[in-house]
Amino acid sequence: MKKILVTGGAGYIGSHTYIELVESGYQPIIIDDFRNSEKFVIDRLQDVTGSSVIIYDLDCNNEKNLEKVFSEHDIDGVIHFAAYKAVGESVENPLKYYDNNIGSLVKLLKVMTKFNVHVLVFSSSCTVYGEPDNLVVSEDFPLSEPTSPYGHTKLICERIIENSIQSKSCNIRGLILRYFNPIGAHKSGLIGELPLGYPNNLVPYITQAAAGKRGQIQVFGNDYDTEDGTCIRDFIHVSDLASAHVEALNKLISDPNLKLDVLNIGTGTGTSVLELINKFEKINNIKLDWEFSDRRPGDVEKIYADCSKVKKSLNWSCKYSVDDALEHAWNWEKSLK
Ligand code: WQD
Repeated sequence: MKKILVTGGAGYIGSHTYIELVESGYQPIIIDDFRNSEKFVIDRLQDVTGSSVIIYDLDCNNEKNLEKVFSEHDIDGVIHFAAYKAVGESVENPLKYYDNNIGSLVKLLKVMTKFNVHVLVFSSSCTVYGEPDNLVVSEDFPLSEPTSPYGHTKLICERIIENSIQSKSCNIRGLILRYFNPIGAHKSGLIGELPLGYPNNLVPYITQAAAGKRGQIQVFGNDYDTEDGTCIRDFIHVSDLASAHVEALNKLISDPNLKLDVLNIGTGTGTSVLELINKFEKINNIKLDWEFSDRRPGDVEKIYADCSKVKKSLNWSCKYSVDDALEHAWNWEKSLK
């Protein structure tokens, strides 16, 4: 059974990927210091998969910690999730983002090289596209200035991986996955998104507001150049995003000639903020309390993925709809009450 190191594996996307890895016959090993996740997630992963979780409660921005894991297990590949990802926070505290997001990748690549581990799947983001001129972005799109330090850390990490692989200084082969907007929760309702503190993202705010934990939903801006005036995003079910990581791993392991590639992971369709609110109300039979407010600085007006490359390269496409994601998100929120 191939062992896969999952950094940040107790987090939102990491925990959902953990389940898909087990169900695909891999033995995942988690390194996570729970700075942005809760310990009960590990028990839930054991409940869902029916097997015990190998976890190292350690900071992966620490070479010694990484060496401990690599020396205790014969690792076949790595999925690197561990990073800070709050756009707003990165503007207030850029050094925290540069140190952790870039520092942990550099240390990971060095330790992978030391232990002769070649396969890497890297969690990147559509934020590297900045404010794209086109509504639909494909991977060869010229990358403009990301709109936040968070986006810059993802772009710099992509360059670090590219340069390292080209330099042959580390015998690594990698797939870089650029996520769009992950939403929803596992269909079991046992794991889901756990934003610590105020939820910056739209869907967790909606579910918390619907559960009476938050006030009125603010729709940031209704004067954008879109059909209903609100921003457009590519909202993808987190379990679909998770399965894309497993397919990326399968591809790297099965194709030794694959050195490096970048893939958009989205649904290929755009949904506006207002459309999403209406979908949530309809699928969950709930009336939401919302109002229009000012635009949020740094928001991209409209973006969604051209997913033709990932469909061709990994023979992967989404199984779930936005409606499924909103239903699963609400099931998860209700389980937290
Ligand atoms: C979506 C839309 C808001 C909250 C996120 C992550 C980023 C990246 C991509 C991973 C925007 C609007 C939001 C609210 C609102 N993911 N909104 N009221 O900004 O697209 O970026 O996904 O790398 O890390 O931050 O997602 O959910 O914050 O916003 O109207 O209370 O919803 O203006 O148009 P965003 P989001």
